[in-house]
Amino acid sequence: MIQVRVAGIEDVAAVNFILRESYTALMADAYQPALLEEALPMMVRANPRLLASGTYYLAEADGEPAGCGGWTFDEPGTGTLEPGTAHIRHFGVRPSWIAKGIGRRLYMRCEADARAAGARRFVCFSSLNGEPFYRALGFERQARIEVPMGPTVRLPSILMSRPI
Ligand SMILES: CC(C)(COP(=O)(O)OP(=O)(O)OC[C@H]1O[C@@H](n2cnc3c(N)ncnc32)[C@H](O)[C@@H]1OP(=O)(O)O)[C@@H](O)C(=O)NCCC(=O)NCCS
Repeated sequence: MIQVRVAGIEDVAAVNFILRESYTALMADAYQPALLEEALPMMVRANPRLLASGTYYLAEADGEPAGCGGWTFDEPGTGTLEPGTAHIRHFGVRPSWIAKGIGRRLYMRCEADARAAGARRFVCFSSLNGEPFYRALGFERQARIEVPMGPTVRLPSILMSRPI
């Protein structure tokens, strides 16, 4: 039984819990341990602005927090706005709940709400391990990029996009 709902600031503990479990376990095969040791502390914390945005979602499975993710019009990191373009933000599914369609359910909610708000294109800064997931959702690889995580770390990532 999977339910997807808009997350709020009161869900900070649940989102922290999901991101910590998810990113710590599921990124380990794609990145060097030393890089993850520096980058993970900045990635496994819920972003308060996303939580308050109304476009960040929590998936609950059998009544427990299982996944999270959302979208914004502003580009992560720079805040840049481009008419019609929206950005996928901070997706994570707990390891015990992966491969059960929760990520896709979260994405479908994002797509429906972003389209209703006027977006016609999604852009995603995908982790290396996340690329097959976004490809399955219809995204195409545009370029290899490095995403700044704080002042000193740059995370190798894949720039992906799709029309919506
Ligand atoms: C990426 C992630 C969110 C996917 O969540 P999930 O709930 O397991 O995804 P789903 O079960 O909804 O899968 C959706 C589709 O993607 C495919 N997919 C997901 N992960 C995949 C993988 N590692 N390899 C190949 N295909 C994959 C599934 O086969 C499925 O395809 P289908 O619907 O056509 O059968 C999850 O693995 C995760 O949290 N990873 C770690 C955090 C991370 O890197 N997040 C992305 C940050 S940019």
